[in-house]
Amino acid sequence: MARFRPSRDWINDPNGLIVHGGLWHLFFQTNPEGVDWGTMSWGHATSPDLATWTEHAVALPCTAEEQIFSGSVVHDVANTSGLGRDGVAPLVAVYTSHYSPGSPRHGTQAQSLASSTDGGFTWTPFPGNPVLTRGTPDFRDPKVFREVDGWTMVVVEAADHLVLRYRSPDLRAWTLDGWLRVPGEGLVECPDVFPLAIEGELHEVLLVSVGPVAPGRGTGMRYTIDPVWRQGEPDPTDLGETPWPLLDHGPDCYAGTTFNDAPDGRRIFLAWMSNWDYAADVPLDGGRGRMTTPRELSLVRGEEGPVLRQWPVGVPEAAFVQVADEAGTETFDEGGTRVTTTLAWRPPAP
Ligand code: FRU
Repeated sequence: MARFRPSRDWINDPNGLIVHGGLWHLFFQTNPEGVDWGTMSWGHATSPDLATWTEHAVALPCTAEEQIFSGSVVHDVANTSGLGRDGVAPLVAVYTSHYSPGSPRHGTQAQSLASSTDGGFTWTPFPGNPVLTRGTPDFRDPKVFREVDGWTMVVVEAADHLVLRYRSPDLRAWTLDGWLRVPGEGLVECPDVFPLAIEGELHEVLLVSVGPVAPGRGTGMRYTIDPVWRQGEPDPTDLGETPWPLLDHGPDCYAGTTFNDAPDGRRIFLAWMSNWDYAADVPLDGGRGRMTTPRELSLVRGEEGPVLRQWPVGVPEAAFVQVADEAGTETFDEGGTRVTTTLAWRPPAP
């Protein structure tokens, strides 16, 4: 069973996806106190192969001051953060602090750090938290990754449809380095950005979770290729323009993000297999909610440029049986969105 599902409690977004110590680490939004959303904390599971999962103790529990909202984990190999111990380079979690009514910061969300020097199993919050605040209520979901010359974070002002890019030398001090707006209604959450190559040509892919994706269809995901980042302070009159195709045409794919440090430069994605329209009513199955099958992302050529391709990890192409006479590429309009689908199959085994 390649899909993670919890044995108990509520889950939503995958968090802190990273390959470390030979294991695929999946942290996730969970309520350790029950099967409904609340007292949000980070749960933890690991897999040696993305096929079987082992659940672990809650990694980052909610406190009286704050709930632990979504975020990411990086391996700070050069100990730029100074949070390593006894010569061990730390894993650093960058998460959103959602402050409780008792906190002087109540009404805002900000980005905070926690570190682990035992491979991700126990975590210590950074005493200097938060490391990045705008004093705003919907500033959340940092995805951080290493670049040659430091760290990059993409994060959102969810209600303003703003994706913000920050840079840092040490994971503590962050400088705004670009922004863009995602057109549409509702919220924009859980951004992720990464390079993918096609025939040696490098492109930047940006994923976001949005709600609703279309009237009556609830929450889902969109992506864009080679986004144009604006400079300076965000301009409220700039409403965004890049095309944003749907990432998944089914209803159950939200808050998806990709693993840091996956071997062989692979880009592996997984998402929460639910929809905020009905997540609270999904029948219990151990806990409430599960993750999608992990998918490998790549780019293929479409009529108007590169298109994102997704393939379920561990599923051989031969598993797909013939459903039509010819393989090929089809383009059609889906609710105003141009969809390009590549049909490929092999005959079923005799
Ligand atoms: C997305 C989301 C995030 C937030 C988390 C809270 O599903 O709303 O924006 O960090 O869930 O559980």
